[in-house]
Amino acid sequence: MPFDYSRLAATCAVDSPENAITLPPQAYGSDDLYADEVDQIFKRGWIPLCRLEQLGVPGSYYSIDILGMPLVVTRDRNGEVRVLSRNCTHRWMEVCSGAGTAGVLQCPYHLWSFGLDGHLAGAPEMKQSAGFERKDYALKQFRHEVWKGFVFVNIDGHATSVAEQYAALEPIVDPYDFENYQTVEQTEWGICDWDWKIMVDNFMECYHHMGPHRGSLEEQFPAALSYTGEVGEYFTTMWSQQADGYPADPPFLSPGAPTLSPEHSHKSLIFIAYPLLQIAMGPGYFYWLKVLPMGAGKIDLYLDICMSPAALAAPGLDARRSELIKMICDIHREDLDVCAAVQRAIKSGVTATGRLSHLERPLWEFYRYLGRQLGILGNTADLASAG
Ligand code: FES
Ligand SMILES: [Fe+2]
Repeated sequence: MPFDYSRLAATCAVDSPENAITLPPQAYGSDDLYADEVDQIFKRGWIPLCRLEQLGVPGSYYSIDILGMPLVVTRDRNGEVRVLSRNCTHRWMEVCSGAGTAGVLQCPYHLWSFGLDGHLAGAPEMKQSAGFERKDYALKQFRHEVWKGFVFVNIDGHATSVAEQYAALEPIVDPYDFENYQTVEQTEWGICDWDWKIMVDNFMECYHHMGPHRGSLEEQFPAALSYTGEVGEYFTTMWSQQADGYPADPPFLSPGAPTLSPEHSHKSLIFIAYPLLQIAMGPGYFYWLKVLPMGAGKIDLYLDICMSPAALAAPGLDARRSELIKMICDIHREDLDVCAAVQRAIKSGVTATGRLSHLERPLWEFYRYLGRQLGILGNTADLASAG
């Protein structure tokens, strides 16, 4: 059945959060819509690939597949970061996989070798090939930028700069100094049978603390105390506020940067920098979901955990790091079951649109973003501000 854009447009065009409704269920499983999301959202936007500290030394490389394209993020011998295609320029084999350090990336098929800057450094048995010049066969390079320690790629090369898109986020996130947080754990959750928008819907509201997180988060971080923060054309923020009477305990809420206010020690900042960077952050930690869309209703999911410099320097690091990783993974697991169940409902053919609570205002903001990017909303001038 062709996708009904008019129903999607109706959701995206709702002009006040009091009237917010869900997306039409078919929006989470339509191949037609997914093809448009690839062209108009993922290729045009900035996709986070990894943290800079994952490329700690010259010669580091980190492989990642985006939208079916095999990419590698490298740091060359001069320290410069690049995002390159992993497809060999001979006959397209992948020149590397995984992550590590290397002097060159040598294709395993016919042993052409490429510098970490992408240039073709060696190609055996090519002297008899008329006119062949190594300089014509560098690995394809993609546009990248670094923001707050994240390496982003822009596939189509035409996006406004990442710093410009997320500029209004900086006053909110800069007190955390999260640029200098360090990755302490990378977790893989594999191919998940739900749409990237289901993951965003789940991540960007704390209403469900009272459901799947009733035994973990709800008592200390009740759904009812969460609220939407600043929003912009390319991001939405929300806060999960601690109930009265709880201390600012490690590993989540302390220790943190001296630039934070005492108030920061009693809440977590949750934000999405569209389309895909999803972060939950406190003075002591942040984690980010690496959601790699694989098709309508399918993602490849990773979750990476970082600790603040103050948290890394405090006594008892091993115990606090283990506790942090366990708590985040346990809570994340509680989300997976509901995401899978929602996608099953969509596959079963539900058609009715749902209503949203005021605690789901970030979803209303997300749907307006979708409407703008997909060109089905018209006017982009009337962005909502803080709520
Ligand atoms: S495909 Fe890479 S060297 Fe032939
Ligand atoms: Fe959750």
